[in-house]
Amino acid sequence: MTTTGQYHTAEITLNVNGQPHSLQVRHHWTLLDVIREQLDLTGSKKGCDRGECGSCTVLLDGKPVYACQLLAVQVGGRPIITIEGLGDGTPTLEGMDTVQRAFLEEDGGQCGFCTPGFVMSTRALLNCNPNPTDEEIRQALSGNLCRCNAYGRILESVRAARQT
Ligand code: FES
Ligand code: FES
Repeated sequence: MTTTGQYHTAEITLNVNGQPHSLQVRHHWTLLDVIREQLDLTGSKKGCDRGECGSCTVLLDGKPVYACQLLAVQVGGRPIITIEGLGDGTPTLEGMDTVQRAFLEEDGGQCGFCTPGFVMSTRALLNCNPNPTDEEIRQALSGNLCRCNAYGRILESVRAARQT
């Protein structure tokens, strides 16, 4: 630990989307702020910043978590996947993860602000349960909110993704 001005900082290695990043971070910086502002991965959204909306959802050790509710210093060295880490990384329909493609083809959103969080929670669900029931889908996505009330289209998107 070092002290920069009035702030304590630490050197950590964040393992994001398979890439290690050596970073000097302040102890109070959240994982969400670091991946958005230090790594410039802005797909994860800051909606509420208080663990209510799920728009910041990323996968940590394969499980969906709210990136706004973790400090970056807590997760050094552990595998983190953001929305940018899905698919093969090419900006094509074929390069997308099947969940991303299903949300696109089924109009699984309106303004799209919540969509990265829903996609990440869906990916986590399908990784451990490839053919969930509607009830299992609703439970798995219960930590994600959509202010546009696009829940019907979101459910259709997940149904499409589970069939592929
Ligand atoms: S921004 Fe993290 S839960 Fe809303
Ligand atoms: S599509 Fe707008 S918040 Fe969900």
